[in-house]
This record gives sequence, structure tokens and C-alpha cells, in this order.
Amino acid sequence: MTEQILILDFGSQYTQVIARRIRECHVYSTIARFDTPADEIAALKPKGLILSGGPSSVYSPKAPLPDPAIFKLGVPILGICYGVQLMAQFLGGKVERGQKREYGKGTLSVTDDKCALFAKLPAPLQVWNSHGDKLAKVPKGFKAVAASDNSEFAAIEDRARRFFGLQFHPEVAHTPRGRDIIANFVHKICGCGAGWTMRHYLEQAVEEIRQQAGPGRVILGLSGGVDSSVAAALLHKAIGDQLTCIFVNNGLLRGREAQVVREVFGRHFKIKLQYEDASKLFLRRLKGVTDPERKRKIIGKTFIEVFQEATKRAGAAKFLAQGTLYPDVIESVPIAGNPAALIKSHHNVGGLPRNMKFKLIEPLKCLFKDEVRQLGLELGLPKEIVFRQPFPGPGLAVRILGAVTPARCDILRAADSIVVEEMKASGWYYKIWQSFAVLLPVRSVGVMGDERTYDFTIAIRAVESQDGMTADWVKLPYDLLEKLASRIINEVKGVNRVCLDISSKPPATIEWE
Ligand code: XMP
Repeated sequence: MTEQILILDFGSQYTQVIARRIRECHVYSTIARFDTPADEIAALKPKGLILSGGPSSVYSPKAPLPDPAIFKLGVPILGICYGVQLMAQFLGGKVERGQKREYGKGTLSVTDDKCALFAKLPAPLQVWNSHGDKLAKVPKGFKAVAASDNSEFAAIEDRARRFFGLQFHPEVAHTPRGRDIIANFVHKICGCGAGWTMRHYLEQAVEEIRQQAGPGRVILGLSGGVDSSVAAALLHKAIGDQLTCIFVNNGLLRGREAQVVREVFGRHFKIKLQYEDASKLFLRRLKGVTDPERKRKIIGKTFIEVFQEATKRAGAAKFLAQGTLYPDVIESVPIAGNPAALIKSHHNVGGLPRNMKFKLIEPLKCLFKDEVRQLGLELGLPKEIVFRQPFPGPGLAVRILGAVTPARCDILRAADSIVVEEMKASGWYYKIWQSFAVLLPVRSVGVMGDERTYDFTIAIRAVESQDGMTADWVKLPYDLLEKLASRIINEVKGVNRVCLDISSKPPATIEWE
């Protein structure tokens, strides 16, 4: 059984960050709801527990509370922020209502250098605070091991029971040595090794897929995006020709998309690839449609139809594989004021209905995005696929404002290819979240040679973002912008003007429709 650390989620926006930090120590970690019964936790045999932070006060009548029996499991526990207050509350300490929120940078002085959490760390340490209430008295058996500017109990421990608490957040980047504190907890205190690597995961996942699929055939919808591509390579490694990938060309793809997918998966990996060219059908159904929501609906519905038909032609299969990731399956904790709840509302055109008569295989469902990328590299996928920028399911349709026509698709595709090419050549493509062209169906006057032109406008959108939920426009260098504009105007027939989109999200969205 893989060693793991279990995090109980009390609604902190940083819960997933804690899990990622632990995995960066090559220790597997999972997230469970705050009220998971202690016997269920015990069955998972975690090497340690972490109680996350959260927006509540332990005094609130609606405060999320854990099963008290978790303190009797005999495993080490680390409480972070709200987590340490809970620990104090449950074990007989005292929590004081804060007059004001302590928020921002603080300095931590370790007062007991024998505390394993701070082993080999310099003093003082810079830490990040974000809490309202604070500890006033530690429970019996505990003592303070570090103090901060406004709390004598910034870190506490009960060495005998191996219970620890931190008022600050070790998981965030603003606590520069926080990774070491977490590493000390998982290795020195919980005794975990460092066996969770992508190579190890790969071997284990291959084994599990073989067991789950048996001799059965598996179908996967391959979009060319990172997740479905990594899933395809992984499944193929596990079950070879039992896998058929279906790639739907909806006529709204980027320039070389269909070609790259066929080259990489068909020719290089020798994966059975069923290529469905449905571009005419999609474009016919989109004819004259200008409303963004209607466009999305038509594309989503048509995709399902085409995919379902394609699965019939692929021959009898028992399983449908999907590139679902861990953040999609973590049960979010619905606690008021928890911004994590908002991060869930993602549109997903291209999703399949649950009523398809297949059993599901989701081989990436315990991985975070950055781990999926590492796995892709481990599987030998090219950088071009592993680090590609996100591309929306409805494709170019949401980047051609107004009606989508084959001619407009061609214009946008040509302009977009120049953007991708130049962003890659200048090294910017892999540094930012997204960069693309948008076709505005407004015409303006220009001159080219001796002739007057009356052509369309291309907008360039380049944004930085962590998760697509908020974004800033990227200050690309002028010479790069100049090159983009001059190449697009000179090389793309039908365009005589290029603009730069300098809106942030919110209030603007990343895509234009
Ligand atoms: P917005 O435009 O909402 O986009 O700021 C946020 C992120 O989501 C991507 N996006 C989509 N992805 N299906 C997807 O799979 C969609 O329908 C879709 N719409 C937008 C967008 O590219 C950005 O990264």
C-alpha cells in the first residue's frame, strides 16, 4: 500500500496547495472532507494527518468539526491555522477571538530547537499569517515551540502524542521555508520515505489499468489537449491495441492540430486512432449563429452525437477512458466564504453524457495538472503536447465574434498560427497561460501598396494566470508585438489591422465569447 498523508479539508483555499507540497516531497497525499469518520481514516492507514485551515471560527455554531476519535488514532497530526485552533478546542486548550485578522508577513522565532518541525532551519523564519482567532492557552501535554510578533503560540507541539500546530501557513509561497517544515513533518515525524515519483506512479497505474480492463476494449476521446494526450499514452502503454482513440475534427481546430495529433499518436506511438472529420457538419449547424451561448450549445451537442456515432463504428468496447484530474474529483467543502467553491464552476463543452453504456476508466484522477505533465514527459510525449496552452472545447468558434464561416475560420487559423509561432520563437509561449488571436468582424479602412483596403481586425490576447479563474494581460515586448502585427497584416489576407487586448479577468473573460 502506498504511504500517504491524509489532509482533512476545513474549507481553506490552500488545501490543494498543501497536498501538492506534500507530493513535492515525493509522498502521496489525498484530501478528504473534514467530517470523514475516524474508522474510514484508519482504514486508509495514513502515516499522518493534516487539519487544514478554513474560513470559520471554532466558535461559530456552523464551524466544521472533525470526528473527535481522530485524536485517538495514534498517528501524527499537524493542525494548520484553523486546524490548530480545532486541536486546541478539542484537547482542552483555549482559543481567543481575535480583535482583528492577522494577515500578511510575520517573523517566527523558534524557541525550542529540538522541535522536529524546524530541524535544520535557520532562525528567525519569515512566515505568512492569515487568521482571525488565536491560541490563548495550549492543551495539556502541549508546549509552545515558536513565537511570532503577536503570538507566543505560533507553533506548538505535544511530542509524546506527535501532535503539532502552526498558526501560520507553511504551504504558501510567502512562507519561503514552508516546504522544509512540511518535509520535516512528513519525513521526520511521520516517517514517510520518498517513493512517490512519476516513474513509480506510472508502473502502478499501468498495473491497475491492466487489472481493470482485463481483455476488454477501451475507447478514449482524444482532443490533443494535455490531459487526454497523457491519458492516451498511458493507456496505450498499459493495454496497447485494446485502446482506440477517437479524434473529432470539428472544423474549429488550430492550424496544425489534426496533423500533430495524427503524427504523434498515430505514426509515432502507433496508437489505433479513429479520425472523424465532422468539420462540415459543425460548420453547417453553426451557419448564421451569432449568440455565444448558442454556439457553445450547438458545438457541445454535435460533439456528443458525433462521438457516440464514432464509438459504434469503433467496434464493441466495454470501457470509456477520460482524462479527469484530481481537482475535479475532490469533494468541495461547502463552507460560506470559501473561495475554493467558486473555482469549481468551470464550463466544460466537450464533456460526455454519463448515460453512455460504458464503464469508466480515469487513470489520472488522483493527479494534479503539473503531475500529469511530468507523467507525460515520463511517457515520452513531446514538449509541444505536454506544455501546450489550454484550448477551449468550442475552439475557434468562441474566438470568431459573430457568425462562424469557413472563410473566417481560415483567416483566424492563419493569424493564430503566426501568434503561436512567434510566441514560441521568442520563448514567451511556455512562460504564460495563454496567447491567441481573435477575429473581430468589424471592417476598417487601410492602404496596401497603392490600394485601399477594407478588411477585418485581429485582436491579440496574451494572459498570465494560475488557474484560468483570474488573469492579467501580459506586457509583451514592443518588438514582439510589432513583429506579430506586421506578419499578420502582411501574410493574412483579409486582415489590415491588429490590436492588443489589455483587459484583465475579471472583469473581462479570457476568451472573447
Ligand atoms: P474564460 O473565457 O471563462 O476562460 O475566462 C477560462 C479558461 O477556460 C478556457 N475555456 C474553456 N475550456 N471548454 C474548455 O475546455 C470551454 O468551453 C471553455 N471556455 C473557456 C479558456 O481558454 C481559459 O483557459
